[in-house]
Amino acid sequence: MGASKKLKMATPLGPLLLQLFLLILLLISIHQSHPATASTIHLPFSIYPYSLSVTDFGATGDGLHYDTAAIQSAIKACPTFHHTQCHVTFPPGTYLTRTLFLKSGVVLDIKENATLLGCTKMEDYPKELQEWYVVVAENASDVGITGGGMVDGHGLGFVKRFNERKNVMVSWNTTGACLGDECRPRLVGFIDCKNVRVWNITLTEPAYWCLHIVRCENTSIHDVSIYGNFNTPNNDGIDIEDSNNTVITRCHIDTGDDAICPKTYTGPLYNLTVTNCWIRTKSSAIKLGSASSFDFKGLIFDNITIVESHRGLGLQIRDGGNVSDITFSNINISTRYYDPLWWGRAEPIYVTTCPRDSSAKEGSISNVVFINITANSENGVFLSGSKHGLLSNLRFINVNLTYRRWTNYSGGLIDYRPGCQGLVNHSIAGIIMEHIEGLEVENVNMRWSDHPFGHWNNPLDFKPSTVNNISLFNFRSSLYIK
Ligand SMILES: *[C@@H]1O[C@H](CO)[C@@H](O)[C@H](O)[C@H]1NC(C)=O
Ligand SMILES: *[C@@H]1O[C@H](CO)[C@@H](O)[C@H](O)[C@H]1NC(C)=O
Ligand SMILES: *[C@@H]1O[C@H](CO)[C@@H](O)[C@H](O)[C@H]1NC(C)=O
Ligand SMILES: *[C@@H]1O[C@H](CO)[C@@H](O)[C@H](O)[C@H]1NC(C)=O
Ligand SMILES: *[C@@H]1O[C@H](CO)[C@@H](O)[C@H](O)[C@H]1NC(C)=O
Ligand SMILES: *[C@@H]1O[C@H](CO)[C@@H](O)[C@H](O)[C@H]1NC(C)=O
Ligand SMILES: *[C@@H]1O[C@H](CO)[C@@H](O)[C@H](O)[C@H]1NC(C)=O
Ligand SMILES: *[C@@H]1O[C@H](CO)[C@@H](O)[C@H](O)[C@H]1NC(C)=O
Ligand SMILES: *[C@@H]1O[C@H](CO)[C@@H](O)[C@H](O)[C@H]1NC(C)=O
Ligand SMILES: *[C@@H]1O[C@H](CO)[C@@H](O)[C@H](O)[C@H]1NC(C)=O
Ligand SMILES: *[C@@H]1O[C@H](CO)[C@@H](O)[C@H](O)[C@H]1NC(C)=O
Ligand SMILES: *[C@@H]1O[C@H](CO)[C@@H](O)[C@H](O)[C@H]1NC(C)=O
Repeated sequence: MGASKKLKMATPLGPLLLQLFLLILLLISIHQSHPATASTIHLPFSIYPYSLSVTDFGATGDGLHYDTAAIQSAIKACPTFHHTQCHVTFPPGTYLTRTLFLKSGVVLDIKENATLLGCTKMEDYPKELQEWYVVVAENASDVGITGGGMVDGHGLGFVKRFNERKNVMVSWNTTGACLGDECRPRLVGFIDCKNVRVWNITLTEPAYWCLHIVRCENTSIHDVSIYGNFNTPNNDGIDIEDSNNTVITRCHIDTGDDAICPKTYTGPLYNLTVTNCWIRTKSSAIKLGSASSFDFKGLIFDNITIVESHRGLGLQIRDGGNVSDITFSNINISTRYYDPLWWGRAEPIYVTTCPRDSSAKEGSISNVVFINITANSENGVFLSGSKHGLLSNLRFINVNLTYRRWTNYSGGLIDYRPGCQGLVNHSIAGIIMEHIEGLEVENVNMRWSDHPFGHWNNPLDFKPSTVNNISLFNFRSSLYIK
C-alpha cells in the first residue's frame, strides 16, 4: 500500500525528473526479471499504476486555450513498458482540445469537475474522417477512460438550425466521403483495440455518435452515463461494430438516437452482454443493425429499463448478416410515438430482415428468446422476416404487453425503414407476423385500452402462407382495466 504514496509523489515531478524515475524503475524491473517468477515481475507494475497530471505539462484547464499539445505530451511521456497502465489525470477544470490520440497502456483519468471539451471547427479535426473524434485510440491495447469527470462534444455547436421535430445539423461534407448531415465528429472511439475499459465517466453532447467501439476485442464499459441532445439526429449512445467480447453494465443513456447499437460492416460481432442499464431515446433503445453485412452471435441483454422511447428492442437486419443466439430478459419497456422523421413507430419489439435494396442480400434471424418482458406501448410487436431471410425459433416467454395511447400522433403505419418498403399503411395489431418458421408464445398477456385513437385491430395478424409452426401456450388477450 506504500505503493500509492510513491505514485502520488511522482505526480508533481517535472517531465525530465519523471523520465529519470522511470529509467530507474525500468532498471529495477530488468534486474528483477531474471531470478523472479512471472508473477513477481508483474507485481510492481500492477500495484504501481503510473500517473501524470496534464497540468504538469502546461495544460491550463481554462476552457479557452487549446490544451491539446499539453495533453498529447503527457500521453507521450506516459511509461507503458511491461503492460503498465499509465493514468493521464485531469484535475478540475475545462480542457479545450482538438482530437486526442491515445496510445497503448494509457488511461485518461478525468477527475470529478474536470471536463474534456471538444472543438467545433473542422480544422481542429484530422484530415481523415475515420479519425474525427474528440478522443480516439487506434491499434492500441490496455487503453481506457475513467475518473468520474466528463467528456463533452459541444454538440449543440453543430446545430445549424434548431427544429422541434429534428434539428438540422452542420455538414462537413467537402470531399463527398460522407453524406449530407452525417458529416460530423464522433466523441470517443476505440478502433482495432484490445482490452478497452471505459468506466465511471459521463459522456455528454456528442456531435454525432457518442462511444464507438470498432473491431475491438475484450471491451468493458461500466458505470457510464451518456447524455445526447434529444432533437439531434445520429446522437447514438454506444455503437459496437465488428467486435468480440464486449460487456456493458450499469449504463444510463438519455439521447436522441439509438442507445446501444451493435453493427457489422467488415466482420462478425460475437459475445456482447449488456446488463443493468436505463435508457431513453427518440429512436431504438437496443438496435442490431441496420449495418448488418456480417453475423451477430451470442448477445445477451438483461435487466434493462427502457422509458419513453420510439422503439424498444429492435433487430433491423438489412445486408445479409445472420443473427443467432440472442436473449432479452428482465426488461421493462415503455414505447411511444414521436415524429415519423425518426425511425421507430412505438414498437416494443421489432424483428426484421427485409433487404435494404434490390442489390442487398437477405440475412436470417434464429434462436431469439424474449423472457420476463413487460411493455406499455402505443403500438404492437412487429415480427417481419423476408423470403430468404426467415425468422426462426423465436420464443416469447412471460411477456406482458399493455397497449394504450397517450400521444396524439396517428398510428396505422408499419415502419420498414431503412430502405425496403419504407412506411406502409396497415392497421395496428398486437403482434404482426410475416415470414416466420417457428414461433413459441408461452405465458403472454396482451391487454388493450379502449381508447378512441386506439384503432386496434387483431391481437394476432399474420399471412398464413408465410408463417409456419406457431405455438400458443397460455396466451391471453383482453381489455385493459385500470
Ligand atoms: C465539484 O464541484 C462541486 C460543486 O461546485 C463541489 O461541491 C465539489 O466539492 C467539487 N468536487 C471536487 C472534487 O472538486
Ligand atoms: C493500424 O494497423 C493497420 C493494419 O496493420 C494499419 O493499416 C493502420 O495504419 C494502423 N493504424 C495506426 C493508427 O497505427
Ligand atoms: C468515480 O469517480 C469519483 C470521482 O473521481 C470517485 O470519487 C469514485 O470513487 C469513482 N467511483 C468508482 C466506482 O470508481
Ligand atoms: C457532398 O460533397 C460532394 C463533393 O463536394 C458533393 O458532390 C455532394 O453533392 C455532397 N453531398 C451531400 C449529400 O451533401
Ligand atoms: C471475432 O471473432 C471472429 C470469430 O472467431 C473472428 O472472425 C473475428 O476476426 C473476431 N474479431 C475481432 C475484432 O477480434
Ligand atoms: C480477452 O480476454 C480473455 C479472457 O480474459 C483472454 O483469454 C484473452 O487473451 C483476451 N484477449 C486479448 C487480445 O487480450
Ligand atoms: C464467445 O464466448 C464463448 C463463451 O464464452 C467463447 O467460447 C467464444 O470463444 C467467444 N467467441 C469469441 C469470438 O471470442
Ligand atoms: C438491475 O439494474 C438496476 C440498475 O439499473 C440495479 O439497481 C439492480 O440491482 C439490478 N438488478 C439485478 C437483479 O441485478
Ligand atoms: C420492471 O417492473 C417491475 C414491476 O414494476 C419491477 O418489479 C422490476 O424490477 C422492473 N424491472 C426492471 C428491469 O426495470
Ligand atoms: C447467412 O446464411 C446464409 C444461409 O446459410 C448464407 O448463405 C450466408 O452466406 C450467410 N451470411 C453471411 C454474412 O455469412
Ligand atoms: C405479467 O402479469 C401477470 C399478471 O398480472 C403477473 O403475474 C406476472 O408476474 C407478469 N409478468 C411479467 C414478466 O411482468
Ligand atoms: C424470469 O422471472 C422469474 C420470476 O421472477 C425468475 O424466477 C426467472 O429466473 C426469470 N428468468 C430469467 C431468464 O431471468
